[in-house]
Amino acid sequence: MKPTVTPLRYPSGKTWLLDYVKEFIKFHKLEPKAIVEPYAGSASVSIGLLQGGLVNEAYISEKDPLIVAFWNAVLYQNEELVEFIKSLEVSLETWYSLKKYLHFDSDHKYNTVELAGAFLFFNRTNFSGIIKGGPLGGKQQQSSYKFDCRFNREKIIEKIQGLHDLKGRLHVAEVDGIKFMQRMTSGTNENLLFYVDPPYYGAGRELYRYYFIDEDHQKLSAFLKRLEHPWLLSYDDADFIRNLYTDSKTFPVYTDYQSGNLRRNVRELLISNFLIPPLAPSIKVEGKQHGNNTRMVDKVN
Ligand SMILES: C[S@@+](CC[C@H](N)C(=O)[O-])C[C@H]1O[C@@H](n2cnc3c(N)ncnc32)[C@H](O)[C@@H]1O
Repeated sequence: MKPTVTPLRYPSGKTWLLDYVKEFIKFHKLEPKAIVEPYAGSASVSIGLLQGGLVNEAYISEKDPLIVAFWNAVLYQNEELVEFIKSLEVSLETWYSLKKYLHFDSDHKYNTVELAGAFLFFNRTNFSGIIKGGPLGGKQQQSSYKFDCRFNREKIIEKIQGLHDLKGRLHVAEVDGIKFMQRMTSGTNENLLFYVDPPYYGAGRELYRYYFIDEDHQKLSAFLKRLEHPWLLSYDDADFIRNLYTDSKTFPVYTDYQSGNLRRNVRELLISNFLIPPLAPSIKVEGKQHGNNTRMVDKVN
């Protein structure tokens, strides 16, 4: 079974894509100094690349303050977060009592550890880790899946403690993804790789507290088309998205992925300004890759 790199169960989390991103980097001989992940969620790709030694630093951004609080607590208040998790009774009563953290406003009085702990609790006890979803097993607990079946406290704590080592190399921002990428590219020619995993086009509204409308997808496409650093984008497949990336340097592919405990096929669109190498048997390039591959040829040869 594949070890997971983050303690989060994230809807559309990309642990399954990590090996492919590593291959992508090697194929293009990219040697990035840092990875930039503007739509972080569980940040599985950034953390996997850091832990695998493929990058020295990762810069992640996320709009949901609960997720930002989680990453900040992991890095800067690790012991307090662990104590908070130890103190939690894993019960439906706790689930109801923590609900208030999902409805805070900008004047909230909660501290980072409380927000982080509440986020982790819902992430591990809600159906599919969906933060605004319902509890595993249902509110009546009549299913064969019980509320605490994904809350292995020891393992969660072990992973959180393990991530503390990334302090100083993992940088977290609470900024809109496009603004974050603009900030990362202004006035620097550093060797950066952008891994971009925006909210899904189809199910984004159901999966995340912050999601995109059509205009946001359009703005992201316009930004990426101007971005000169290598970027790799993953999306759920939809005609609307395909039409945004018909540009000559983009290469839609499908991945039919089955791995370890993830016994499901993932049909996802990968798009890049570099050639998408069909290195893993699970990656299927759809049709002929076309367009101007000059940059890819330069890198490979
Ligand atoms: C597809 S998920 C990312 C999943 C991540 N790659 C992983 O492996 O867990 C998209 C994320 O974008 C965040 N998001 C939504 N709108 C955003 C925005 N404008 N700027 C930054 N993050 C945003 C959502 O909260 C969600 O966590």
